[in-house]
Amino acid sequence: MNRPQRAVASHPKGIVPAYRGLYQRLRSEILSGRLAAGARLPSSRTLASQLGVARGTVEVAYQMLAGEGYTIGDGARGTIVNPALPRGKRPRSYETAAGQSDEAQPEAPVHATPLLFQPGLPALDAFPRKAWARIAVAVSRQLDFEQMAFPGHLDPMGYAPLRRAIASYLRIARDISCSADQILITAGFQGALGLIVQTLLEPDDKVWVEDPGYFQAHWLLRGMPLRMVGVRVDEEGLDVGAGTATHSDAALALVTTTHQFPLGMTLPVDRRLALLDWADRQRAWIVEDDYDCEVHHRGLPPPALKSLDRNGRVLYVGSFSKVLFPGLRVGYVVVPAALSDRFAHAARAAQPAPALMTQKLVEGFMSGGHFARHLSRMRSLYTERCKALATALEDAMPQRLQISLTDGGMHFVARLRGKTSAAEIVTRLRAKNVGPSALSLCALRGGGPNGLIVGYPNVAKEDAASAAQRMLAAMR
Ligand SMILES: Cc1ncc(COP(=O)(O)O)c(C=O)c1O
Repeated sequence: MNRPQRAVASHPKGIVPAYRGLYQRLRSEILSGRLAAGARLPSSRTLASQLGVARGTVEVAYQMLAGEGYTIGDGARGTIVNPALPRGKRPRSYETAAGQSDEAQPEAPVHATPLLFQPGLPALDAFPRKAWARIAVAVSRQLDFEQMAFPGHLDPMGYAPLRRAIASYLRIARDISCSADQILITAGFQGALGLIVQTLLEPDDKVWVEDPGYFQAHWLLRGMPLRMVGVRVDEEGLDVGAGTATHSDAALALVTTTHQFPLGMTLPVDRRLALLDWADRQRAWIVEDDYDCEVHHRGLPPPALKSLDRNGRVLYVGSFSKVLFPGLRVGYVVVPAALSDRFAHAARAAQPAPALMTQKLVEGFMSGGHFARHLSRMRSLYTERCKALATALEDAMPQRLQISLTDGGMHFVARLRGKTSAAEIVTRLRAKNVGPSALSLCALRGGGPNGLIVGYPNVAKEDAASAAQRMLAAMR
């Protein structure tokens, strides 16, 4: 909350007493619902010392609110927002700290989370909250000086035990021979890609991206002084031949190998070898985005491209966004051994790792065996949910949708048979809180297949049929 004095100073019509400015701000918080019904207001002494005003100022503002029925006394709990207050009605006009009408400010997009079929989310209902909360409490309890200090002083590459846990997981699960020294902890894939580009590329360098490909990566790269070139994706994944034929002078290729994003196919071995061969010859870098390799429906996922990298050209990027949850913002890069020092240096400047407490929490989750257990539960749950929803959608809309499942991933693509564009359908669906994305979001040049990216993990098997009916109704 801004200091009320600023509201007072910037009021266009002259001086407003401090108590009145505070009353107005609190009232607008209540009417907008940001201070929810039943929420407790801080004591007048606490708020006065937070805001640096006299206690009497807060008391007068509180009395005005109580007098108008916005708040009530609740015994020992102090003052609370009146639970009986009708909401949704905003005052006609009142001043905010910036002296503007609150109503004139753009609304942030608000929607229920998750939207039905929203891509990019793991099964939030199946997350092992109890184990997570236990570890979180333990990590907070040992709030030692190490946790409180600036983590970069300790190691800018990230919390060493977490890096060891990740290296050990990758050696076993992804066949990547690496040591903890090569692991750099980042704020998810986005943080990793930004750092890689800043560390390895020069202005005007060419970067291959898949077309269609990961739109977040496209957005990030578009904002950098680089030349992003789209390389087409065919039914086998990135068309390496097309890339080398047209832009063999690129400095970096970004590729989703295990499950191409968004189409889901696995890059075959001949293309992997061709890609590595090109990178070796060209002395180019490959960023392998292995964002959801853990969710493979048929047996073990294929080994990472990095496992074939003999000359240290591949930077392997993993993320906990899909296997834990995206709000966590933890990911990592495996940097080639020869680049470790360069990245350590870059990390010292950029400080890419998230809070040490967060890193400790993830480490505790991994070393306590919860990560492995969670993954194994998720694999069978996802296979079941994916099949159930794809079947239900095709049953509900046989004339409109065609779904071919791939071997893994946390979404599937539903091709649209009619003439209506996916973008138009998405707009209709969003109005009903149904949230698949249009495939066209991922296409660099527009065009491409007309289809929807459907996230299935948050639809329980028993709810698949009713969810499909909800989508059918919303599409009309
Ligand atoms: C293709 C792709 N790469 C990477 C990620 C992970 O991104 P982040 O770690 O920034 O959440 C995702 C998540 O949805 C993704 O779809």
